[in-house]
Amino acid sequence: MSPKKKTAYAVPKLKKFSATLLTEAREHFEEALVSESENVKDEAAWKEFRDRWMARKNGLLTQINELWLKAAPSEAKREVGQLVNRLKTDVENRVTAAKASLEGRIPPPRAEAPASGRGVGVEGQMEDVKYRSAEKRIAAESIDITLPGNRRPLGAEHPVIKTMNEIVGVFRNLGYSVEEGPEIETDYYNFEALNFPPNHPARDTQDTLFIAGQESKPLRERLLLRTHTSPVQIRTMEKLKPPLRVVCPGKVHRNDAPDATHSPIFHQVEGLAVDSKITFCDLKGTIDHAMKALFGSSVQTRFYPSFFPFTEPSADVQISCIFCGGKGYRDGGRCPNCKASGWIELLGCGMVDPNVFGFVDYDPRKVSGFAFGMGVERIAILKYGVDDIQLFFNGDARFLEQFR
Ligand code: PHE
Repeated sequence: MSPKKKTAYAVPKLKKFSATLLTEAREHFEEALVSESENVKDEAAWKEFRDRWMARKNGLLTQINELWLKAAPSEAKREVGQLVNRLKTDVENRVTAAKASLEGRIPPPRAEAPASGRGVGVEGQMEDVKYRSAEKRIAAESIDITLPGNRRPLGAEHPVIKTMNEIVGVFRNLGYSVEEGPEIETDYYNFEALNFPPNHPARDTQDTLFIAGQESKPLRERLLLRTHTSPVQIRTMEKLKPPLRVVCPGKVHRNDAPDATHSPIFHQVEGLAVDSKITFCDLKGTIDHAMKALFGSSVQTRFYPSFFPFTEPSADVQISCIFCGGKGYRDGGRCPNCKASGWIELLGCGMVDPNVFGFVDYDPRKVSGFAFGMGVERIAILKYGVDDIQLFFNGDARFLEQFR
């Protein structure tokens, strides 16, 4: 005999049959039953377990029958009889369950599961099986709330979109509405209706990306990636009658090699106002207001003669340098941002060319208008002090995170 077995449970003789002693005796018996059933690891051990508890000859059940029930005085017989019956069922259940768990049918009863009070009779055994399979299911479904969850870090609005929305917001506050147009355009909208005649050298300044395989179509129907948002002017005027005030934000494409200041994809916000008495003064006042709203009220604007086929007269707008306050020097040297000029060029604009009105059936004798177009990245670069336009398109989270 192993030393462990020497201390194994043995059915005690009961000197008294008081309720307390009976409870104590029952508890010892049950503890032994549970712990021994948990030690059943193979078929041989199970047989030994079964025989130790259930053998007709000298099994522990037989012993409690002899030592407890038969020895009980008549006044305690009823109570002891009930107890012995209950323990008999418990032993049978444990023996059945130990076998089942060996065969992998039901998980072994858990140590804290009461050895009695459950599983009385056949129905009770069914209950036990249900109880354990529910336990198994719950265990499988359980969520370990101590594990850290899947983090979904808070994103940030992309600085280009943020700036674009800000520009649009300035004009919305002035009563402008928002229009959009397609990125794949026809030659007609991108050039012809904007008064770029075929073969006009101004087309060359746009570095156009053409869609391949269009040669069989008439020129005006050929598709290209829009080089500016100005075609939305035409689409809007075809759709709406004057007076109108619209801004058109969107993506544009040019065949430019990427470097710190160029990108083949960038964004513009176009503006168009058409009414009966629009003058260049309205254009100047509007742009001056917008630049102050975007860069601060101390910023000044300057209009410089320029050329666009669709505006006449045309101008480039410069703002006083926001880095040196327009002085041209700072930190005891030349201001690198405005190249010591005190001015930074920011956008193109002008009065809508009467020829353009001709393309959309507006009467140039009755209406006039102004248009402007600005690069969103350029404005974002100035506002946020970004030194490389490529940062907007590389998708590096470390850069983008800074705009949260
Ligand atoms: N579309 C011009 C460009 O991309 C900008 C512009 C828009 C100029 C509207 C005048 C009026 O360069």
